[in-house]
Amino acid sequence: MADVVLTEIHGRVGLIRINRPEVLNALNNDVMDGIGLAIDAFEADEAIGCIVLTGNEKAFAAGADIGFMKEFGYMDAYKTDFITRNWERIRTCRKPVIAAVSGYALGGGCEVAMMCDMIYAADNARFGQPEIKLGTLPGAGGTQRLPRAVGKAKAMDMCLTGRMMDAAEAERSGLVARIFAPEKLVEETLAAAQTIADYSLPAVMMVKESVNRAYESSLAEGLLFERRTFHASFALEDQKEGMAAFVGKRKADFKHR
Ligand code: HXC
Repeated sequence: MADVVLTEIHGRVGLIRINRPEVLNALNNDVMDGIGLAIDAFEADEAIGCIVLTGNEKAFAAGADIGFMKEFGYMDAYKTDFITRNWERIRTCRKPVIAAVSGYALGGGCEVAMMCDMIYAADNARFGQPEIKLGTLPGAGGTQRLPRAVGKAKAMDMCLTGRMMDAAEAERSGLVARIFAPEKLVEETLAAAQTIADYSLPAVMMVKESVNRAYESSLAEGLLFERRTFHASFALEDQKEGMAAFVGKRKADFKHR
């Protein structure tokens, strides 16, 4: 059996590829366990500063595996802690994770992309939450993350009608950070990831944690979190190096400490 999750290392970037092309990268337990293991390895590796998650040109992932779910009962879902057990590792990763989406990102695929810190898309990308067509609903955060990304009107429209959103609309709506030609997507995403990975890793982690607070808290709480974290950044060796390098008109040599 082919390996359903492939990994590569490019400089300080860890690349994870979902690899079930025969079913448009439908997400089953093997895929989700594999993504989790890959994140465990990249997170533990001091030489990695940023992670990219991608699929292939036709599909990032066309959803959770419908063949697997179709005979599932409530007790199967409840007892196995379906989704919670192995779908949320991306969310707990402290290093940045960028989704590079080409082709379909539907249902659980769209939800996995939204679990990442940002989405770069190819111009052929198609996002959607079509679960309503299957008599169910998004179950991996779609009803919560999509409204936060694109607003209630478009989220409601997508979840209730099951329609797809193309890359241009997704970028216009705030779901996607940047769009590239399909053949350039991985290369450009790796380049951006390498830029991030070359910065001070603890500073990058602090930025990620602080921006995520905007999702999870009130403005006052978020501002307080940011301020305290900013104060803490003065304890970084890399802050001393970064500012000394600017004043000395030289390139900073970050030690990720
Ligand atoms: C299992 C899938 C699949 C899926 C596609 N395939 N999506 N298998 N689970 N989610 C399989 C097809 O059965 C087919 O297998 C092969 O991939 C190619 O797909 P086609 O349909 O032939 O391709 P195409 O005509 O190009 O249509 C592409 C498509 C369509 C529009 C993306 O495949 C589609 O509508 N897929 C389902 C999308 C969806 O409903 N996603 C949400 C799933 S529910 P064969 O063997 O026939 O070649 C979900 C729940 C989330 O994600 C909540 C918890 C996570």
